[in-house]
Order: sequence, then structure tokens, then C-alpha cells
Amino acid sequence: MELIREEKRERAVFATKLGAIATTVGSAVGLGNIWRFPYEAGVHGGGAFLICYLGFVFLIGIPLLIAEFVMGRGTRSNVFGAYRKLSPGTRWDLFGVLGIITSLIILSFYTVVAGWTAEFCLASITGELNFATEEARHEGFMVLTNGGNSMIWTNVFIAFNFCILIGGVTKGIERASNILMPLFFLLLVVFCINSFFLPGFWEGMNYLFWPDFSKITPSVILGALGQAFFSMSLGLGCMMTYASYFNSGSRLGKTAVTTSILDTMVAVLAGVIIFPAVFSFGLSPSAGPTLVFEVLPHIFYQLPGGGIWSTLFFLLLFLASLTSTVSLSEISISYFCEEKGMTRGKAVMVSTLITIFGAILCALSFGPLAGFTIFGLDFFNLFDYVSSNVLMPLGGLGCSVFVGWFVKRQFIENELTDHGKYKFRLLKIMVFFLQWICPAAIILIFLNSIGAI
Ligand code: PHE
Repeated sequence: MELIREEKRERAVFATKLGAIATTVGSAVGLGNIWRFPYEAGVHGGGAFLICYLGFVFLIGIPLLIAEFVMGRGTRSNVFGAYRKLSPGTRWDLFGVLGIITSLIILSFYTVVAGWTAEFCLASITGELNFATEEARHEGFMVLTNGGNSMIWTNVFIAFNFCILIGGVTKGIERASNILMPLFFLLLVVFCINSFFLPGFWEGMNYLFWPDFSKITPSVILGALGQAFFSMSLGLGCMMTYASYFNSGSRLGKTAVTTSILDTMVAVLAGVIIFPAVFSFGLSPSAGPTLVFEVLPHIFYQLPGGGIWSTLFFLLLFLASLTSTVSLSEISISYFCEEKGMTRGKAVMVSTLITIFGAILCALSFGPLAGFTIFGLDFFNLFDYVSSNVLMPLGGLGCSVFVGWFVKRQFIENELTDHGKYKFRLLKIMVFFLQWICPAAIILIFLNSIGAI
């Protein structure tokens, strides 16, 4: 879809309604679904985690996504400006600052993992990923993701991200992702079908879908909450920033529900692909952040034409990551342009330089900085943990209280109904959720996880 300049305003808007959905899905679907969901579910006991995760998507995720849409489209501003416009003279805009900082922290580790997708894609083409023995596979994997390689590939990825950002608000990538994302979805379905024929299919399905309630601990609950925020790009103003580019005809409620459903489906599909393979090939589900990259090549290379499947998959995952990092970068870029008066080029530059700095710290966590830990976590794991489990829920808490209690009801209604053109029957209940359910749940989960309750 193309972005057009709205006549009176200087800001770009997406030309079509599909544009709104395609870009928000582009932001939501990425490594969070394919890489992070299976590893988090694996670490936190499978089914128990899935149940909590699904609960949070629907109870907290969807109302918050709508709240971010309302703030973004209603103010047509970056995250900082949105808080300021709706509540001038107060310090609510600090939640905007929090969102910008969070986005840069996420970019730091996200680009490292995205770099691996590029590297694995190339290694699939050259045949390097096709290891003869199990030991060779493990060894090879360690080499591919070591500090030096991670450093190179994260920068390759950042360079791609830079080029797209510099070219304006993302014309080409969106057009491409309109075709490629459905293709990615199709590929995932093919691998799901393949899962069915693996010897560990039922064991994997059992692990993912059969909740063992005794496994629900405070850390499982917090992990699931963090994953819901991460996967839906919530709590840092990302969806707010994108909604500021929606045209006035987009239906916010529908867009939010469609995005959430598609995002959740992709995560579940990834689980259905990964866990049967984990059990079939005798691996451990709780391997952590490297799980997916170790498991996937197993799946591809037991198929005829393994290299082709592998190349295609990592290429599409690379592109899905790119649509997410573009949205992450847009948070700080729109802030630098609108609040600090920078040209777009300069804003992209600044955002990219900060990202490179953070990404180097994270890449080197797989090399010389491996021993450097804070709270027992290296930079990579620390940034991953803190952004999802602390900063995003905190940002979400701010947003829900702000929209629920401080934004005028009429303003919310106007945005959701396009000034009375559509019906939005769930307004009251949604506001109730924003006022009570979301803040209470987030606060209780925080307290619970630090052992206070
Ligand atoms: N939701 C993206 C994913 O699942 C990651 C992301 C987080 C993107 C926050 C934007 C903001 O990969």
C-alpha cells in the first residue's frame, strides 16, 4: 500500500484500510511469534504457559491495542506528543519517553536474532546448514551464532533496516509484505502438516496444548504477560505511532481484533511446528533463546529439497523481522522528527546509531561479553527480559490508566465510531477493562512476581 500526504496536514497516512491492517500485522508478526513464543513456552512448561498467554491476549492485549489506536489516530502524533496533546501540562508524557527507550532496548537484541535469520538463510543457500551429524550440528550452530558472526550479521540486518527507513515511511516493504506475509503463513501451514508425520507429533501437541495447572507459577504468569505484550507490539507506543498514520476511515476495533487473531495464530502455528520436532529429535524444549534455530534445520533437512525449504523459511522470517524493526524504529524516529525538529534523514541516523551500539553489546554476549552479567543475565538476556517483563507492561499500565481515566469518553467514542459512522457496542466494557481489569492484572502480576503477594 502506498502512503499519501493528507492535504491539510503535513503527516503521511496510509492510503487504504488494508494498509492499516497489513502494517499492524507486519509489526506484530515477527520473531516474537516464531522465535520468542516457542522458547518462552518451552522454558515455562508448554500448555500452562499457552493458557496464560491466550488469556492475556484477549483480556489485556486487545483493549490495550484499541487504546493505543485511539491515542495514535486521535492525536496523529508520535508517542510522546500523543500523551502531551491529550494531557498538556502534565507529566504523562514520561510514558512516551519510556516507550521510546523501550523500543531502542528491544531493537538491540531483536536485530541480533534477526541477523541470525539472514545468516541462516545464506548458510541454507550454500549448504552449510546441512550438517551430517548431531554433534556437527550443535558445533556448527555455536559457530554461526558466536560473538563475531552475530556482530557482523546484526549489522547487515541493521543496514537493511536503515535503507528501508531512509526511503520514507516504508512504501516498498509494505507492498512486498502484502504478498510475502501470506506466503509465510502458507509455509507455516505446510510445516504444520509435516509435523503431523513426525514420530513426536502427539508428544509435542500434548506438551503445547495440555495444561498442567500445577506448573503455573509467578514466573510463568509474568512470562506469558510479557510475551503477550512483546508479540502484539504493545506498551511502548508502537501501535500508537502506526495508528497515527491510519486514515480516518479505518475501523480501529476491527483492525485490533484482526491483528490480534492473526498474530496469535502465527504463534500457535510456530508451536505446532517446533514442539513435535523437539520431541522427535530428542531435544530439550527448555533450551532458551537458541531453541528455534537449533530445531528448525532438523525439520527442513529431513524433507526432500531441505535446502530450499530452509532458504525460503529464513528469507521470509528475515522479512517478517524487518517489518517489525521498521515499526520499532519508527517510534523514536517520529519522536525525533516531530518533537526535536530533526529531518527524517537525521532522525533515522540517530536511531540507527543507538541501535548499533545496543546491538553490539548484545551480539558480544555470545562472545567476549558472555561473562559480563547483571542480575545473572548477560546483555542479550537482560534486555530481552527487562523490556518484555517490566518495561512494556509498565507502559501498558500507563496507557490503560490514561485512556481509561483521563481521556474524554467522547474522544474515545469518536475515534472508535468514526464520529458516529459505525457502531462500537463494546465501548463501555472496553473502558471498564482499561480502568480496572488491565491495571489491576498488571499490578497484581508485578507484585506476585516479586513475591509481595
Ligand atoms: N511484535 C514483534 C514480534 O513479534 C516485536 C515488536 C515488539 C515489534 C514491540 C514492535 C514493538 O516480533
